[in-house]
Amino acid sequence: MNWWRKDLLGLEQLSREEINLILDTAIPMKDIVQRDIKKVPTLRGRTVVNLFYEPSTRTRTSFELAGKYMGANTVNISTGSSSVVKGESLKDTAKILEVMGADVVVIRHSMAGAAQILAETVSASVINAGDGIHEHPTQALLDMFTIREEKGNISGLTVTIVGDILHSRVVRSNIWGLTKLGARVRVVGPPTLIPCGIENLGVEVYYSLEEALVGSDVVMALRIQKERQKKGLFPSLREYARLYGITRERLALAKPDCLLLHPGPVNRGVELSSEVADGAQSMINRQVTNGVAVRMALLFLLTGGAKGEAIDTGR
Ligand code: CP
Repeated sequence: MNWWRKDLLGLEQLSREEINLILDTAIPMKDIVQRDIKKVPTLRGRTVVNLFYEPSTRTRTSFELAGKYMGANTVNISTGSSSVVKGESLKDTAKILEVMGADVVVIRHSMAGAAQILAETVSASVINAGDGIHEHPTQALLDMFTIREEKGNISGLTVTIVGDILHSRVVRSNIWGLTKLGARVRVVGPPTLIPCGIENLGVEVYYSLEEALVGSDVVMALRIQKERQKKGLFPSLREYARLYGITRERLALAKPDCLLLHPGPVNRGVELSSEVADGAQSMINRQVTNGVAVRMALLFLLTGGAKGEAIDTGR
């Protein structure tokens, strides 16, 4: 199938076939990322703007590298050093970027729906790099790429997602994506961090981490989002770590070949012990590498790939 969408706003809208197209397109992109000379001309003459209203290390840098590796002009705008601090609106900022010639705008914003508003405002392609607690589709795509790369297939796997389910945009995108690809998804965390009705998205809800881990093929620990927390949802970070932190002993309850994922940044000693974060089952560094490949695939599909062009890998 050919890609036809202007924007990538979330995984809720995507079909299984579209998700697989992105993951398949990321395979040759990873080959480029792993070369000594990481440069192909696929996006020469195109302009990618990263518009980040919230902090980011992995997502912003990997979009920048993804654009650069494919020959695009890449520009980063962080709100602290832009006219946003003078009161310029999101829509006006977007229009400015468009008339300057942006082909793709990558946006991260604290408001759910910000990427959708941007997509309706500009004719450039818009990629959602995280909007409030709504979706973070490129994170889920790189998570699925990593799982598929290691396990061969996602269908039939049991994936357990542990932590702050309530505030996590990563979990929402992963639930949409993983269930569409046939995984069985479990969510586990303190009752105050599990939103009412989450089981309607097709997941199983657990409150005991030990029970949830048994039989898991993949464990994904989420970051405790201190910046989005209201006070009092759990007693303390120490108490959270005692009940829901992934340690070597707890990971041993899952299948012996269970993968451990975390979107980062990791609060060591809270979500993960350092021993498991740096251990043999940890996919954390692989996720970051794969994030560049997946974002290259999306930039390709939303620009040249949208017209059915072949991937120019420079070979
Ligand atoms: N996983 C993730 O979105 O990380 P950053 O906030 O560093 O982009």
